[in-house]
Amino acid sequence: MNYLISSFFLCYTSEYGDFFSMRIGLISDIHSNYIALKTALDFLEGKIDVLLCSGDFVGYGPSPKKCIEALIDFPLPHYYCIGNHDLKVRYQYSCNINKPLERDFKILSKFRFSEVAEEMIKRNASELKDIHFDFLCSLSFKQIFQLKGYNIYLTHGTPSVRRAENVGKYLFAPPRLTNEVINNRISKDKYAKKSDLIIVGHSHQRFLIDRSRLFHWSLINDILDKKQTKFPLTFSTKRKKVILNPGSVGQARDGTGNASFTIINIEKQKIVFHDLDYPRTKFYQLVKKKCDPEIHGDNFWENRFGNFSKNREL
Ligand SMILES: [Fe+2]
Repeated sequence: MNYLISSFFLCYTSEYGDFFSMRIGLISDIHSNYIALKTALDFLEGKIDVLLCSGDFVGYGPSPKKCIEALIDFPLPHYYCIGNHDLKVRYQYSCNINKPLERDFKILSKFRFSEVAEEMIKRNASELKDIHFDFLCSLSFKQIFQLKGYNIYLTHGTPSVRRAENVGKYLFAPPRLTNEVINNRISKDKYAKKSDLIIVGHSHQRFLIDRSRLFHWSLINDILDKKQTKFPLTFSTKRKKVILNPGSVGQARDGTGNASFTIINIEKQKIVFHDLDYPRTKFYQLVKKKCDPEIHGDNFWENRFGNFSKNREL
């Protein structure tokens, strides 16, 4: 099924490839924050030819249905994969309708969620209807496809042949993980190994690693090292051995709290990281109504570094 979907979009893009430059929009970790998602999608309108999302459409936030509905019929070719919160929400929904998805349960038993996450997973799942559940069930653990000659590998956590790692294991830029660890992980998955572009999410932190010249950049490292990085950040795609995290649309954990996303222009060989502020007051009103104010204060959404600190052991 996934193969068929991928093939369709591949045909679509090559059919129109001579007329459009290939501009890829990358989003991730929306977390039921529709107001941030709308800000990102409004900006991307007319600027991209294909949309990729590396998971966590739902969880944490107040608007799971609206987030799914905005992307379910997205009017451009798109590739999505499942995040750990999507997996847990779909499992919770399956339990609510007395048809527990045993395969999901097995994967979920390999990792844990925080109390806040668990609570919002339950609240999100209780709001959904079958159409949203079907969307979550359509998501795969990884997507492997080609765009304009680039081999692309899209997953939420880390490239791996294990689904639990695809969905729940973090991939960080050096120095948090060494180049050796990163290359070792990639070498274990033959599709990741031959990929030109690996896109992940999960950490909610933007980074780019160029495996062909051992170059890396991450916003969180810049902030912790007190470098003054200015946006948009632009990189070249000339060397095709890139691993990239576009950051989080709905709950940034890298210092800005803004809706973060990335645009890759294959023709112009350019990667640009963006982050935009979104209407916070409107969002916080919704949070107060639908989330738990005790655990979802403003700090939660603007948290600078999540649970990660420079000295955290991995
Ligand atoms: Fe996430």
